[in-house]
Amino acid sequence: MGPGLRQADLPWDDGAMTGEIGELNPPPRLLMGPGPITCDPRVLRALSTQLLGQFDPAFTAYMNEVMGLYRRLYQTENRWTFLVDGTARAGIEAILVSLISPGDRVLVPIFGRFGHLLCEIAQRCGGAISSIEAEWGTVFAPDQIEAAIRQHRPRALAICQGDTSTTMAQPLDEIGAICRRHDVILYVDATATLGGMDLPVDRWQIDAVSAGLQKCLSGPPGSSPITFNQRVIDIVNARKHVEAGIRPAGYVAGNGVPIQSNYFDLAMLMDYWGESRLNHHTEAASMLYAARECARIVLAEGLDACFARHRLASQALTGGLTAMGLTLFGDQAHKMPNVTGVLIPGGVDGETVRRLMLEDFGIEIGSSFGPLKGRIWRIGTMGYVCRKENVLHCLGALEATLRQCGLRAPPGAGVDAALAVYRTAAVSAPGSPPANAPATDRTPA
Ligand SMILES: Cc1ncc(COP(=O)(O)O)c(C=O)c1O
Repeated sequence: MGPGLRQADLPWDDGAMTGEIGELNPPPRLLMGPGPITCDPRVLRALSTQLLGQFDPAFTAYMNEVMGLYRRLYQTENRWTFLVDGTARAGIEAILVSLISPGDRVLVPIFGRFGHLLCEIAQRCGGAISSIEAEWGTVFAPDQIEAAIRQHRPRALAICQGDTSTTMAQPLDEIGAICRRHDVILYVDATATLGGMDLPVDRWQIDAVSAGLQKCLSGPPGSSPITFNQRVIDIVNARKHVEAGIRPAGYVAGNGVPIQSNYFDLAMLMDYWGESRLNHHTEAASMLYAARECARIVLAEGLDACFARHRLASQALTGGLTAMGLTLFGDQAHKMPNVTGVLIPGGVDGETVRRLMLEDFGIEIGSSFGPLKGRIWRIGTMGYVCRKENVLHCLGALEATLRQCGLRAPPGAGVDAALAVYRTAAVSAPGSPPANAPATDRTPA
């Protein structure tokens, strides 16, 4: 504290200037909300790896490895598959601001809060927005999307694969073909689903996708893996304007409207991630290490095994919740496998339950937004957290907490039902990797 400075002079200061700050020592928690989730310890170790200069050949080799790893995660041959530094919305913004020129029509099918976010970002990029809305808890049929494309004639369509606010997953397998028929660019926000649900980007003809690390990839928020194809490259390169001071000899600017963001300019980011290694930002090296480890872990387990583990946890959790007499939220045929919405029973205060789960059991579960605020809890079983023992702990803790709040669920019914799902799966797939935990790391060094 400076001479003569008193706490009363800085009422907004939490003691940082006026007292001693202790070592970082967060309470142990199990993060079972809609993300972030408890980080895989291997990713935490990767985060503490020593830095390298960003043009050190050892570091650029890591950058190339990251590109290759995420191509496999996205099931794509897209050359331009790399990280945008920032949380998942950084990836969304980079794609949308580079794709959308002012006045371009963008169609957004909204089935939750994150559809609204796509509208908001596209609008700030100068897009002319058209949207269609599905009731929260439902998704769109492909022909509804095609009809909206016919009506609005957009240049691009932006949609979430999974909207964590409602826990619904939009089937996308037919949407790419529909977009191609109408010459529409398809962008997908896979923040909450990459690594937890199938997303064969090339097979489904998706033009651009972005994600985050903090959900099914078991990492911290702060890096957004993206991928995009030639249709997007053509649009972006036509808008290419390299900043003065780093322009290479013979540089010719594109004819299109310059991309309105420097940080999120995909044309300059391609130059940075490509062989020319043209300087742009300083790569967030620690996040690159984390992203590399996140992808490596998923691929070591195998994409199909990872998706199956998320599906099984979802069956066990929903079976347990139902056996406790609780009601699941939304159209169960289109539920995300990694997040489960459950209605808060009448007479129970949802926030008190969340607080007691945290205080008594160290388990964090989520609430929701907008029309679902105070109506549902959201329980995440993603990535590193998606394990049998966590599902069982969560169900047991919820049963005890509800009892504290005056609601008696049939004792033990939730845990028993979830265990039964896991036992049946183990019997029907003998010899397969145990369904209770991410597989041990089998990647060769
Ligand atoms: C579907 C979806 N999109 C976008 C985001 C925004 O991600 P971030 O908070 O990492 O920017 C989230 C975060 O929960 C999400 O679930």
